[in-house]
Formats: sequence, structure tokens, C-alpha cells
Amino acid sequence: MKIIMLGAPGAGKGTQAKKIADKYQIPHISTGDIFRANIKEGTELGKKAKSYMDQGQLVPDELTLELIMDRFQNPDCENGYVLDGFPRTIPQAEALTEALAKKGETIDYAINVEVPDENIINRMGGRRACLACGSTYHIVYAPTRVEGICDRCGEKLVLRDDDKPETVKNRLNVYHNQTQPLIDYYTKQGKLAEVDGTQSMEDVFNAIVKILGA
Ligand code: AP5
Ligand code: ZN
Repeated sequence: MKIIMLGAPGAGKGTQAKKIADKYQIPHISTGDIFRANIKEGTELGKKAKSYMDQGQLVPDELTLELIMDRFQNPDCENGYVLDGFPRTIPQAEALTEALAKKGETIDYAINVEVPDENIINRMGGRRACLACGSTYHIVYAPTRVEGICDRCGEKLVLRDDDKPETVKNRLNVYHNQTQPLIDYYTKQGKLAEVDGTQSMEDVFNAIVKILGA
């Protein structure tokens, strides 16, 4: 099964993508996580990506496409994947459609997790991230057992550099201008499914399972 998660920054794409990956036994591929891992390791790609990410801008399509096409070569993609944060622009979506068409394939679903901008600002301020293992928490909605420490790996949690309020506003603008058009793109392909992302994490997941099938 090949699934794309669409939605504004902070809509809960990552949270739901992890649950989908677990249930359907497919890899969770997050371009944001891959960029952050590269920044942490100090790679060339990481250095290039950081300057864009810190400002809430998108990393150029060329760099992103190179990275994702490389990731698709991994044998764990044979039975599908859940894409989180990719595609994010029309050229990225077109490149994905084309790459799949060469193998006679298409994606199965583009799931749009809908959350109004007002809720987003609140969610981002409370998010805490583990840069070591990629886990995400929220001080109110998804607290850890010990404050500030990752439940999964014991590392210290941080507020992501791009979760500061001014940067969140930029990211929302970028989302409306460059990523929202993908909703139309996948509606025209007959692949779009919408879920209300303002519900609890469990209810959002139940709505997604209804779409994908148990
Ligand atoms: P990326 O890492 O993809 O960030 P994003 O899309 O902005 O999404 P987020 O990770 O912020 O949010 P999310 O929707 O996954 O929400 P989450 O589940 O964490 O990208 C970062 C940057 O990398 C971009 O700005 C860009 O520069 C670059 N980049 C990445 N991909 C790119 C691409 N393809 N092209 C170009 N550039 C690219 O949830 C948010 C919070 O809310 C959490 O604290 C969570 O616990 C909480 N929460 C989740 N669900 C609920 C719920 N139902 N109720 C209450 N709280 C909830
Ligand atoms: Zn961790």
C-alpha cells in the first residue's frame, strides 16, 4: 500500500504516519526526519537543508527529489510506504507520479489531515521532539513519563528550531501557497481522502483505518 499524508505543518501527519506504518507493516518515510538526521550528522545535505528549514522555507525540489528517489531504492519499499512531508510541491508530486508510472504503479491514497491554522500554532508550541529516535510528544496531548525525556530512548527532548512562533507563521504561509494545491492534484487523480485532524489522536487514526481497511 502506498500512502501520502497531506496536511499543514503540525496537523499530525507524523503522529498518524507512525501508527499506519506499525499497523500495515510498511516503512514510514519522512523527508523532514531525513533532513534533521543529516543536520545532526553534519552532512553536506544537512548543511544545505538547514538554512531553508530554519526559516520555514522549503528545501529546493532538486535536493529533495534526489534524496527521496534514493530512499525508494531501499528494498523495504517493495510492499509500499507511508510518505510524510513528501510531496510538498506540484513538481514533487509530478515527479512521484512519473517515477511510479514507469513501473506501472500509482499511489493508493492521499490522506489529507485537516486542522485549522488557529489550532496549529498551539500544537507547535507544545511539541517536543527527540532528535535521536524521531519520536514526537506534546506537553499536554502526548506527555512523556518523565518530563523532558524520551520514553523510547531516554534522550533529552527539544523544541524544534522551526517550531518558534515566527517560523511557524512562515511555514503556514508556505503550506498554503505551495502545498495546498496538492489537494486539488490528488482529488483530480481520484486518490484524495479527508479526515478531521482536530479529533483526538485515536479518533483520527480510527478514521484513517476506515479509509484504508482493517
Ligand atoms: P516536516 O518535518 O515535514 O514538518 P511539517 O510538515 O511542518 O510537519 P510537522 O512535523 O511539523 O508536523 P506533523 O504534521 O507531522 O505533526 P505531528 O504529528 O508532529 O518538515 C520540516 C521542514 O523540512 C520543512 O519546513 C522544510 O523546510 C523541510 N522539508 C521537509 N520535507 C520537504 C519536502 N518534501 N520538500 C521541501 N522541503 C521539505 O504533530 C504536531 C504536534 O501536535 C505534536 O506535538 C503532536 O503530539 C500533537 N498532535 C498530533 N495529533 C494531535 C491530535 N489529534 N490532537 C492533539 N495533539 C496532536
Ligand atoms: Zn528518543
